[in-house]
Amino acid sequence: MPARRRVVCPGSFDPVTNGHLDIVGRAASLFDEVVVAVGVNASKNRLFTADERIEMLRTACRDLPNVRVDGFAGLLTDFCREHDIVAIVKGLRAVSDFDYELQMAQMNSSLAPIETVFVPTSPEYSFLASSLVKEVAAFGGDVAGLVPGFVHDLLRERLAERTREQ
Ligand code: PNS
Repeated sequence: MPARRRVVCPGSFDPVTNGHLDIVGRAASLFDEVVVAVGVNASKNRLFTADERIEMLRTACRDLPNVRVDGFAGLLTDFCREHDIVAIVKGLRAVSDFDYELQMAQMNSSLAPIETVFVPTSPEYSFLASSLVKEVAAFGGDVAGLVPGFVHDLLRERLAERTREQ
């Protein structure tokens, strides 16, 4: 029997957006197994904790039987080695993403025998980024169509908590 092809969709997912889910869903239709790997390195200021981000992804991906969600700390290539992952799947929104993504892909393939597969973001999500969703939502803009409904509710709750704390 041929080996099952397991790939990873890595990211911070703070929070997961419809653009992320588009890439995960398309990866799930191309490959046998997809691991959504939520980066838990404590380098950036996050709105949601690692556990919250993982839980959100699990809920959002529950109808995709060949997708599982895990957290990872440290190097992505170490996670790939430990989980028999053959490729990293990344969405490319625009040419501006390409410079940094190419650099990361080449660094990763210098660290381990791992391919990076770039999937063009669907046009309706080409402007979408978690950071912009948070910023727009924080100023009261409508982001309801950009994230799953339950994520939208959690985002509003968290931003309201933050406002009360200030
Ligand atoms: O959603 P993001 O913030 O663009 O995700 C970036 C992520 C988590 C995929 C990237 O920062 C990463 O792979 N971090 C793990 C640490 C690592 O392996 N760094 C070397 C990358 S060449």
